[in-house]
Parts: sequence; structure tokens; C-alpha cells
Amino acid sequence: MKSLGILLSGRGSNFVAIAESIDAGRIVDARIALVISNKADSPGIDTARQRGLNALVIPSKGKAREEHDREVVAALKTNKVDLLCLAGYMRLLSPWFVQQFPRKILNIHPSLLPAFPGLEAQEQAFAYGVKVSGCTVHFVDEELDHGAIVVQKTVPVLDGDDEHTLAARILEQEHIAYTEAINIVLGGKFEILGRRFVKSSQNAEVRMQK
Ligand code: GAR
Repeated sequence: MKSLGILLSGRGSNFVAIAESIDAGRIVDARIALVISNKADSPGIDTARQRGLNALVIPSKGKAREEHDREVVAALKTNKVDLLCLAGYMRLLSPWFVQQFPRKILNIHPSLLPAFPGLEAQEQAFAYGVKVSGCTVHFVDEELDHGAIVVQKTVPVLDGDDEHTLAARILEQEHIAYTEAINIVLGGKFEILGRRFVKSSQNAEVRMQK
């Protein structure tokens, strides 16, 4: 049984989608060991509590990045988290944090990276006038919205769209993409060639023993 950790800052719909996928058996052999929010008033942390999950607020306000990151990492390690999923966690992780969980941190971003990194990606894509946008689940590395891409889903931009209708259709795909990516990564049958995440027939641990 693998233990997932979730970091969030807000609404938490991606977290709920992951929790529902576990409950429905779309993600097997995994549990959510811990949900952490850096904001006490995030709806996502209330939902985690209502679902009876281990939910923790570790406030970031007024703390240096590394100080906050050390508290978060300590909680994740105490709970023996195998895979960490950022789900609307609106904070950059320090390089030190990333190094604590090599290839074990996933993030979801509401655009087809490398287009439109950073904040308000859906608005950026809409304003730019792209005809296709979407979402990306990727490994987290030391750079913003940058690590190897695990899953992408495309979403057409319709003539009648505004940034809200586009964001809503992207969000539906985010929920599907995150479950897909978690299953692939927990399955362990992949390798990363340069920046390219490719499925392989063998488990990464098996390959490393050879
Ligand atoms: C999602 O759209 C997610 O892709 C985005 O924040 C939203 C969180 O929604 N993340 C980023 O922009 C990260 N750069 P949620 O709290 O309902 O999951």
C-alpha cells in the first residue's frame, strides 16, 4: 500500500478527485496519508477533515521559505509519504524540499506546458488567443512548472468561451489527468530520458538492481 501526501492552498477539487478515485478503485493500493494546507482557511483542508483524513495546517505566512518547507517535509516523513501530489499548492518548493523526494513529487498545472507557466494560466492562454489549451501533470524539479511531463490533456478553446468556461473545462480534464498520472507513477514502469517520461516494461527499482 503506497501512501500519498497532498499539499494544497485553496479549493481542493484536485485533491477531492484523487480521494474519489481511491474510494472508487480507480487508484488501487494507495491511501492518502496526509493532507497539508499552508492556509488555515482553505476549503480543501475542511473537506479533508470532513472525509476523516489526516489534515494539517502548516501556515506559511511570515516564515522564511526553508523554515516552512522543513516543517512540511518533517510531517511528510513522519507519515512515510511515498508520493507527494501538489494540488493547487500556491507556493514554490525550495530546492532542498525537492531534493528530499527525488522523482516523488507531482504537480498539476492548468495549461499545456511549457506554454503559460506561473499564475492564472487559463487566463493567460485565453488572452493569448490559443485554439487549444489543456493541463499538464509533471514531476516537480527545482524550476517553476518545469519537470518531466507525465500526462497532458488537451482542451479546445471555443469561440463562445470566456476565461471561466475555459478554466472549468480544463479543470474536468485535470481531475482525469491526475488519476491517470498517479497510476502510472505508482506502477513504477517508466523511465525518464532527458526530459522525456516514457513508459517501460520494467519497474525502475528492478532496472536499478541490474
Ligand atoms: C488548479 O486549476 C490547478 O491546476 C492550479 O490551481 C488550481 C487548483 O484548483 N494550479 C496551478 O496553477 C499551479 N501552478 P483546486 O484547488 O480545485 O485543485
